[in-house]
Amino acid sequence: MANLIVTGGAGFIGANFVHHWRESNPNDLIVVLDALTYAGNRANIDGLEGVELVVGDICHTDLVSELIDSRSIDTIVHFAAESHVDRSITGPDAFVTTNVVGTHSLLKAAKAAWLDTGSGRPHRFHHVSTDEVYGSLGAEDPAFSETTPYAPNSPYSASKAGSDHLVRAYHHTYGLETTTSNCSNNYGPYQFPEKLIPLFLINALYGRSLPIYGDGMNIRDWLHVEDHCRGIALCLSRGVAGEVYNIGGGQELPNLQVIEEICLGVDRAFARNPDLATEFVDCPAAHGRSTIELKSFVKDRQGHDRRYAIDETKARTQLGYEPSRNFREGFAQTLAWYIDNSQWWQELLKRNH
Ligand SMILES: NC(=O)c1ccc[n+]([C@@H]2O[C@H](COP(=O)([O-])OP(=O)(O)OC[C@H]3O[C@@H](n4cnc5c(N)ncnc54)[C@H](O)[C@@H]3O)[C@@H](O)[C@H]2O)c1
Repeated sequence: MANLIVTGGAGFIGANFVHHWRESNPNDLIVVLDALTYAGNRANIDGLEGVELVVGDICHTDLVSELIDSRSIDTIVHFAAESHVDRSITGPDAFVTTNVVGTHSLLKAAKAAWLDTGSGRPHRFHHVSTDEVYGSLGAEDPAFSETTPYAPNSPYSASKAGSDHLVRAYHHTYGLETTTSNCSNNYGPYQFPEKLIPLFLINALYGRSLPIYGDGMNIRDWLHVEDHCRGIALCLSRGVAGEVYNIGGGQELPNLQVIEEICLGVDRAFARNPDLATEFVDCPAAHGRSTIELKSFVKDRQGHDRRYAIDETKARTQLGYEPSRNFREGFAQTLAWYIDNSQWWQELLKRNH
């Protein structure tokens, strides 16, 4: 049995992790520490038994210390972050504050509770990071491994790199039992509609333009969020303190292909379910046309990384990790979820306008 703090557990991946952990470890105590920024949504974890939501900022070290002591926390799974690259280009300050200072605040509180007071209890600090810390790959370059040198290119990835280094330092200097996972692009239920897949899906349903950066040939490795959550759980159960594990989906695709899949998926969904044409009257598929007509090319994002790819050999061989679905299957499930849960994202869009 474990007592967990899940930071950022009301966000996209954190909430999926809370659902996953609740199901696989029904007796564990889960405290979600989340500031409920624009990306956080208490509805994501509503109704889950034994999950306590504490609305608070990870930068408040005293709050974190109080939670660790009062709930006898032995595990921190750290998702809380500013996570959107576009926002980091227009407003980097929040990224440094939450991602760097906030991670350090958690590490300080964990060290104080688990090492300095001499409680000697077994503990684990798991840090969730990104493949973006490794920079950008050329078409023929080998995929990122855990030993690829860091070369972050955006304020987002630089702030995540800073947090990774702090986690590493707290293990090497103080002996804090840490693990870190660097993962690729996630998709799936509960993703805030500013990221490519939910944004384009919703734009398509409303018949709005699908603005593609540059030539659309930027390549990402797509990871279904449930596979990612299984990977993190494996890091917690089998990962060795001080180690880093890359977690990917094994699905390298150019953005253009992802967008074509989205459009095809929407067309098929309308063909299967004629009621959608009444609910989403502006979607081209409501009028028998192909959704791909909404595609448009816009000026590239500043400093846009060309390709990310993950070599997950270490996670496969040392943790027994394996992604369970390809992009086509994972996307079909995701599309069905967004169509069945339109109220979830419509509420979010209303709240953020
Ligand atoms: N989404 C991806 O594809 C992806 C890929 C690689 C790595 N990651 C990493 O995974 C983690 C989770 O990403 P996500 O997509 O779920 O992000 P998200 O933006 O959906 O959620 C972030 C959550 O953190 C909370 N939060 C933000 N600042 C906080 C603070 N100061 N104190 C407490 N809570 C705070 C927000 O309210 C929100 O609930 C992040 O660390 C991100 O860097 C994400």
